[in-house]
Amino acid sequence: MAKKQKHTEQFQNFNIVVFGGTGDLALRKIYPALYHRYIDGQLNCKYNIIAITRKTDQEQTFRSQVRLFLEKNLESSKTNKSEIEAFMTNIHLTVAKEPSVEGYKSLKTFLNKHKDFQNIYYFSTPSSAFGPISKALKASDLAGKNSKVVLEKPLGHSLESSISINDEITQTFEESQIYRIDHYLGKETVQNLMVLRFANNLFERAWDAEHIDSIQITVAESLGVEKRAGYYDQSGALLDMVQNHLLQLVCLVAMEPPFALNANEVRNEKLKILRSLRPFTKDSIRTESIKGQYTRGNIEGSKVSSYLEDIEKYESKTETFVALKTFVDNWRWKNVPFYLRTGKRMKKRYSEIVINFKQVKHNIFPSKEKINNNKLIIRLQPEERIELIQMTKIPGPGGYRYKPTALKLDYMDTFEERFPEAYERLIIDVIRGNQTLFMSQDELVAAWTWIETITNSWKNTNSKNVLYAAGTWGPGDEILNNDESWVTKTWKNK
Ligand code: BG6
Repeated sequence: MAKKQKHTEQFQNFNIVVFGGTGDLALRKIYPALYHRYIDGQLNCKYNIIAITRKTDQEQTFRSQVRLFLEKNLESSKTNKSEIEAFMTNIHLTVAKEPSVEGYKSLKTFLNKHKDFQNIYYFSTPSSAFGPISKALKASDLAGKNSKVVLEKPLGHSLESSISINDEITQTFEESQIYRIDHYLGKETVQNLMVLRFANNLFERAWDAEHIDSIQITVAESLGVEKRAGYYDQSGALLDMVQNHLLQLVCLVAMEPPFALNANEVRNEKLKILRSLRPFTKDSIRTESIKGQYTRGNIEGSKVSSYLEDIEKYESKTETFVALKTFVDNWRWKNVPFYLRTGKRMKKRYSEIVINFKQVKHNIFPSKEKINNNKLIIRLQPEERIELIQMTKIPGPGGYRYKPTALKLDYMDTFEERFPEAYERLIIDVIRGNQTLFMSQDELVAAWTWIETITNSWKNTNSKNVLYAAGTWGPGDEILNNDESWVTKTWKNK
């Protein structure tokens, strides 16, 4: 069993009000995250978790569902019936049929019993509801200075809609009260990118166009669209994954060192990267992007259906795969391609960043055998680890023979600590009031602005999906032509 950490930081008492409180995200992620923090001893203050539902008569089903998720989804060593029951006493279900003063009456009565607590409103609903909920909270006098709001993605479906949602929310909450979640930023391995880059002199010195040939970011999933067909078919891989998660990874890999680790500095550096992304045009979209859609296939021995069958909509043109070659047009990254790929129903779940260094300038060895590039491979999930691929002499006679070998740091073997789920870190940061790992509105606008150069160019060129069989690595190689660096061992041979 993992060691309990000592927590000395004292939090202000809080109410966390979860809109969409009986939904999948709340059950799978939010309550288990809070439970983990509770058994770890970090919730050392008074708190209430208030799940908001629109339906009546949900109490019993809801409580047994929460219990089920706490029991099933957590490591067995951590589940203890009496601890679960103690935690459950803090969870309350409240019915609010509509976002209005009338609808929030019982919520208000509850919150008013804890007037000195901070109120955290967690919007785990479609973003079209964010405006009306905020408005009703304000009208109910529940959105004072001591309150915060957490927003789940997707924040709109275009630049315009995301701005208009933001405009509605900011009539109630100030930017300093708004926490836009991108759960990738809460992942341990993603946070480690900051440490890897800014606590190691070695890498930072070689972190630029002079030393780096290309960067690849891959987020492959073997899952399909599960029960989210309605949402996913409106979004597709570009909006569901690239607009947020992959772009945040690009930011962390490419940004300048902030002068200190605080929200303003970090977000400003990320913003500069988003603004430096080279816009796609009618020309570049043809050669530097690919979108795809999965057909029937086989994943780990099981047959799986096609996307169209999964969503039961046979004319859908939504992409379930996207690969892009892009550039960060600034001094540090001049002409270094950033290859981004993500897709559903791929061979395996597998996320990785590969920093592909340049070759040595001159080969002194008599055999003139190829000297491979050094690569720094950052495996985000699963089997989290870092590998540095370097050339090594093959021992024995026969002159200088060499081959690439890996220096490995395996997270699981190196650290005894359990890996907290992304939501644990993020929710705790909301409670403590640290916005560093949350997106600012400016970042969101910059991300949407660039994404729209892709959606518009796809539209203008009438780009079509390339079909790929489920259980393969998708069609990404095509855009690379002869660019060898795209086809790394890591991507092809897994
Ligand atoms: C979500 C997307 O944001 O991230 C999902 O909406 C995707 O479609 C998920 O499956 C991937 O998250 P993770 O943590 O499993 O990599």
